[in-house]
Amino acid sequence: MLNQPSPLQLIQDELLIQHKIRLFVKRDDLIHPQVSGNKWRKLKYNLAAAREQQQKRLLTFGGAYSNHIAATAAAGKMFGFETIGVIRGELVKPLNPTLHLAQQQGMKLVFVGRKEYREEKAEIAARLQNELGKCYVIPEGGSNALAVKGCAEIVAEVREQLDDDLPDYFCVSSGTGGTAAGLVVGLARMSALKVFPALKGDFLKDEINSLIWQSVGKKYDNWQLVTDYHFGGYTKWNQELIDFINDFYEKFKLQIDPIYTGKLFYGVWNEIEKGNFKDGSTIVVIHTGGLQGIFGFNQRFGDLLNNRHLRK
Ligand SMILES: Cc1ncc(COP(=O)(O)O)c(C=O)c1O
Repeated sequence: MLNQPSPLQLIQDELLIQHKIRLFVKRDDLIHPQVSGNKWRKLKYNLAAAREQQQKRLLTFGGAYSNHIAATAAAGKMFGFETIGVIRGELVKPLNPTLHLAQQQGMKLVFVGRKEYREEKAEIAARLQNELGKCYVIPEGGSNALAVKGCAEIVAEVREQLDDDLPDYFCVSSGTGGTAAGLVVGLARMSALKVFPALKGDFLKDEINSLIWQSVGKKYDNWQLVTDYHFGGYTKWNQELIDFINDFYEKFKLQIDPIYTGKLFYGVWNEIEKGNFKDGSTIVVIHTGGLQGIFGFNQRFGDLLNNRHLRK
């Protein structure tokens, strides 16, 4: 049902040859068509905890195009949980592709205004549990200590796939910080991690440190934020990014998304060009999935991304 360990794919490119870099993509996007990428890593131990607590319902939060909402709905259906998605903003009909998919998987969607959503998540969860019965609550983006535990497992998988070796660098995209925190914990200082935020600002440094602290009570300094590749902020993009994503698919037959992994790979390629990775090094870039978002993106902005080969 779930394709694990996910493949580790070696990429060949002129730029990589020039810099004598060995670059692998950790294909977590192939774990499952709907519960893909970092989503399964984050949900795995949360679903186990929900089951252990004999909870029947999962409740979580997200934006209208959230990969986490889509994945929680699909995982809930797969493992026999009811699911409730608290969605930021007003209900817009017809539902966009993400919410349509979530609803198809049986998720009950509850829309709340942006201010209330920002400020009152705990109250919203309490109110809904009064109305609908007890729920296992998963935070926005799925990032908590159990998500960190799941994401940390990526490191051991890669190590085994590299015959008990580790790369010089791991690279990952970041939104709420759980995936990066998991990698830092899994690495335990063994390789460097470069984190490419999909959002503007460097608040993620505190978020990631705090998730690491909650999980293992430690501080690590073998990681850094690379903040130059957010393209103006969350869900912001330009034609150069779109061209990069479409060319990337043509070149490597590897689909990346415009919100997270497109910015990540664009950033990695640029940082290699600038000489910010040691020549001769090995890099593992984590493909965290998110491909369902392409359908909503194309609907909003007009079929900019080639998606003919993607399964809805
Ligand atoms: C496809 C994809 N990649 C990366 C991320 C960032 O992960 P995190 O929120 O753990 O930083 C997300 C959002 O959760 C995502 O949906």
